[in-house]
Amino acid sequence: MNNHKLNTLILLTLAFFATSCGGGSNENGEGETVAEATPAAPMTLEEAEKGWKTNKGVGPIKSVNLAAEIDQTLADAGMVIFEAKCSACHKVEKKFIGPSPKGIMEKRTPEWVMNMILNPEGMVAEDPIARQLLMKFSAPMANQSLTEDEARSVVEYFRTL
Ligand code: HEC
Repeated sequence: MNNHKLNTLILLTLAFFATSCGGGSNENGEGETVAEATPAAPMTLEEAEKGWKTNKGVGPIKSVNLAAEIDQTLADAGMVIFEAKCSACHKVEKKFIGPSPKGIMEKRTPEWVMNMILNPEGMVAEDPIARQLLMKFSAPMANQSLTEDEARSVVEYFRTL
């Protein structure tokens, strides 16, 4: 990763923490304290994950159909992409800079995973699970500029893990 990208990532992380540390109340013009209307965000990753089956995330992917059988050719293509563009931060056998993708398809929808790959900035800003992951790992997920087809093949690879 070049320095410019790294700086952008660091800025994004700082911006995220700066905006998420606001208190629960604001002062209005008259000096009275008014409650914020926004509902409380989930407090833990576990709480955020409770709604995973209906959570498709935010981004370009609205619907993905997974065949019952794994498409091994597609999964192999996904593995090659994963090794080249993701393994600097993700290891299959252990938690690293980011979480291991092992078992991920049992706790995330395919749409969510693809949106996380294609739109990590939007996801950590708006999606409750992605927000909790960012706090847990203290590092942002990187946008590796995959195409939708490439992201789909990575999902197929994740199904084999
Ligand atoms: C620069 C490091 C970095 C790279 C490169 C990277 N990621 Fe990530 N990824 C992270 C971090 C850190 C997290 C967790 C924090 C977050 O979500 O912001 C994450 C989270 C994820 C998640 C959510 C995991 C979960 O348990 O829900 C998925 C899926 C993911 N990455 C896929 C990928 C794929 C696929 C690639 C390659 C195309 C990739 N990542 C490349 C750092 C990276």
